[in-house]
Amino acid sequence: MDRPFKAIKVTDNVYWVGAIDWGIRDFHGYLTERGTTYNAFLVMADKITLIDTVKPPFLSELLARISSVVDPKEIDYVVSNHAEMDHSGSLVDVIDVVQPEKVFASSMGSKALKEHFHLDREIVAVKNGESLSLGNLSLTFLETRMLHWPDNMFSYLPEEKLLFSQDAFGMHLATSERFADEIDESILEYEGEKYYANILLPFSALVTKLLDKVGELGIEIDIIACDHGPIWRKDLDKIIGWYSKWAQQKPTNKAVVVFDTMWFSTAKMAEAIAEGLLAGGAQPKIMPLKSSHRSNVATEILEAGAVVVGSPTLNNNMYPTVADLLVYLKGLKPKNLVGAAFGSYGWSGEAVGQVRGMLEEMKIDLVDEGLRIKFVPDGDSLSKCFDLGLRVAEKIKALCESA
Ligand SMILES: Cc1cc2nc3c(=O)[nH]c(=O)nc-3n(C[C@H](O)[C@H](O)[C@H](O)COP(=O)(O)O)c2cc1C
Ligand SMILES: [Fe+2]
Ligand SMILES: [Fe+2]
Repeated sequence: MDRPFKAIKVTDNVYWVGAIDWGIRDFHGYLTERGTTYNAFLVMADKITLIDTVKPPFLSELLARISSVVDPKEIDYVVSNHAEMDHSGSLVDVIDVVQPEKVFASSMGSKALKEHFHLDREIVAVKNGESLSLGNLSLTFLETRMLHWPDNMFSYLPEEKLLFSQDAFGMHLATSERFADEIDESILEYEGEKYYANILLPFSALVTKLLDKVGELGIEIDIIACDHGPIWRKDLDKIIGWYSKWAQQKPTNKAVVVFDTMWFSTAKMAEAIAEGLLAGGAQPKIMPLKSSHRSNVATEILEAGAVVVGSPTLNNNMYPTVADLLVYLKGLKPKNLVGAAFGSYGWSGEAVGQVRGMLEEMKIDLVDEGLRIKFVPDGDSLSKCFDLGLRVAEKIKALCESA
């Protein structure tokens, strides 16, 4: 028996033929606690069209699901909406098996696919707004440059009001259910937010523009078929509303206190700072880096108003896990945050200044130059920490009032 994977019907003419990656836990530095899916779609038009492929180890799953509907050799066209390997990684093998008449991508996508796979066949570059006839159905392409690579595009099937949105509106979530309306809303909101915070956050201004543009063009959308996680066929306002909220990065009174520690002095400081935050009316969330993944910290920061970062000094430097976090966060370009740096040290104490420097580079509005405590904090030092928490809480209030 061939592998018994089946396609799932999305509409009369469109099938989900992707793959479920139940076991993945690291996706380029992002902790995928619930696994993920690589969604690909088969459009059973006169010209049978495959939208996107899957990560290389899942090729046989993709082909088996396609085969449950049609012989893969019957596919006429392949559309690659995004050149990243989780969607294009099995494109070369798919081309070998299918021998499609044409392969389409955006102009940047066509170049990026060549740079990935050094293909000698043509990838037809489609223009923004261009329509492709599939006989009885059609596809319209909409470039979504830098959401989140230069090559990304949407493909829209007007006859079904169905948007193939590639990474946008997706989430890393492996489930047996294929549709969002079959899944607990709190899971969708958390995983959608985590995906946004870790993948799309740096491009928030473009997200807002894109949502406005889709509104202006009056494109009617009944179904969003994204490339990761569930397909949206009901309550589309929910995911679109979440996106417009996340893109605004409005500050709240939540303060993320994140740190690492060797002998728990910086940890004691973190707790005292959190008490000060609470007393000042903020909502502290303590995230020790020994038990908090960088991608979960980024998720918490998306709907926060402050980030307070602590590090002991290790061999004249900040602690490596704190450096890891700060480099990661800096790339995500979070906005509308106040903050502070703190940490315990023994003799030279460079870490706090280095953390402060990174927070300044991230344009986080700091309460002061940072709080350094020598070795183990005593009662007096802990009241300085408490006071720092109070001052951060004050600054969050001012930020929230002005935002
Ligand atoms: C391997 C090692 C290297 C250290 N290097 C420095 C250093 O270069 N400069 C400094 O000020 N303190 C240094 N320290 C001292 C720590 O910063 C100090 O013990 C601090 O209180 C630790 O805070 P923690 O309990 O939060 O880990 C070092 C400690 C260790 C264990
Ligand atoms: Fe991607
Ligand atoms: Fe992706």
